[in-house]
Amino acid sequence: MTRQALITDIQRISEIDCDAFGDDCYPLFFLRQACEIYGELFRVAEDEQGTVVGYTLSASKLEGRDAWILVVAVDKRARGRRVATKLIEDGLNILSLGGIQQV
Ligand SMILES: CC(C)(COP(=O)(O)OP(=O)(O)OC[C@H]1O[C@@H](n2cnc3c(N)ncnc32)[C@H](O)[C@@H]1OP(=O)(O)O)[C@@H](O)C(=O)NCCC(=O)NCCS
Repeated sequence: MTRQALITDIQRISEIDCDAFGDDCYPLFFLRQACEIYGELFRVAEDEQGTVVGYTLSASKLEGRDAWILVVAVDKRARGRRVATKLIEDGLNILSLGGIQQV
């Protein structure tokens, strides 16, 4: 299942992000800012135990009807189980509800 990221998820999101992108990962301060700013567009996926195993962040333009999926990353141990697919599907649904027509 996916849900909105909380400030208490940031450390775990950062671990997944840095493991996936190495030196190109987001700094912690940006992830904290994203948590405040992007709401439902900053999402995590949890496994059956409630452990965060992936995240995604989307953003829309101030004007217009288009948006970007900025990132999706999944813990290496949880890959291949459609976690990214679920994160993207749920993110796209939220963008669509917000009136976004192109991603
Ligand atoms: C890419 C990533 C998010 C996929 O996560 P995942 O949960 O394993 O993906 P899913 O199980 O939902 O797979 C969905 C589809 O993508 C394909 N896929 C998965 N990883 C892929 C990769 N690295 N390259 C190409 N295709 C990939 C799967 O085969 C599957 O295809 P299908 O629908 O035809 O069966 C994960 O490998 C990851 O975190 N990689 C490092 C970060 C990254 O590159 N993010 C993307 C750019 S921001």
